[in-house]
Amino acid sequence: MEQIEDGSRPPLVSVKGIPLIKYFAESIELLKNFQVWPDDVLISTYPKSGTTWVSEILDMIYHGGDQEKCQRAPIYDRVPFLEFKAPGSRSGMETLQEIPAPRILKTHLPLSLLPQALLDRKIKIIYVARNAKDVAVSYFNFYKMAKVHPDPGTWEEFLETFMTGKVAYGSWYQHVLEWQELSKRHPVLYLFYEDMKKDPKREIQKITEFVGQSLPEDILDRIVQQTSFKKMKENPMANYTTVPNGIMDHSISPFMRKGTTGDWKNTFTVAQNERFDADYEKKMAGSDLHFDMEL
Ligand code: A3P
Repeated sequence: MEQIEDGSRPPLVSVKGIPLIKYFAESIELLKNFQVWPDDVLISTYPKSGTTWVSEILDMIYHGGDQEKCQRAPIYDRVPFLEFKAPGSRSGMETLQEIPAPRILKTHLPLSLLPQALLDRKIKIIYVARNAKDVAVSYFNFYKMAKVHPDPGTWEEFLETFMTGKVAYGSWYQHVLEWQELSKRHPVLYLFYEDMKKDPKREIQKITEFVGQSLPEDILDRIVQQTSFKKMKENPMANYTTVPNGIMDHSISPFMRKGTTGDWKNTFTVAQNERFDADYEKKMAGSDLHFDMEL
């Protein structure tokens, strides 16, 4: 990512009906040639749902909790972001060429845009879902600081854009539902950000088992500690401060912003919350997915 000067806020581009960051849209065609390795593990999330947190956790699991080894490179070079592409910078596909097995991959793509080989080869997938209200607030702040996105407008405007699925990567509702559906026929570990907040050790243990590893208690404890919000916020290899200011301006809003559940209450008005809840009920009708909105 080192040479990008300015994200310049291009408008989103629709690919098969899914709005995407313009540069990322350009990589979808190339991704069709993506070569899967059998021990690849894919971390999939709707944006702002805990991707970086789980990425750091899994890299630590693979390195037996060795902090130094996990300091070898920024998170986006340790865990290639499949569809990432931006002018003057190394794409996710290029980063992928440089890392050894076992690879940890990251995507936010909805299923309709995911390279089919990942599904055909039954690659293990860790999906992380986070409650829609905290995602919306986190995404609003991220839009402001990450200049590859269009201008988010006011919070009121952005909330509308979010609810109608016109943000980058489309509808949160469709994303969490379709990946849950996938878990019925594909090896998917479906996790919740809120569960990770409540009991990180239990969730880290689940991830460890899912990738076929086992770690002693003291290492699990160390991973819990090293991947706490406070530690990751201070860690330049995890907090995205290595990305040029023209792309991510942390003075507008840090990437590691609050890391809590229920922060939405500081942004939603009572009227916005009521409208959101009514719309949510309709969009999630018939689903058994339950999200904690506060802890
Ligand atoms: P907030 O903006 O609510 O603080 P992603 O990595 O998918 O882009 O998600 C980013 C969100 O996860 C941000 O949420 C960020 O602060 C939060 N986050 C990152 N690391 C975390 C950690 N170790 N513990 C809790 N939250 C974390």
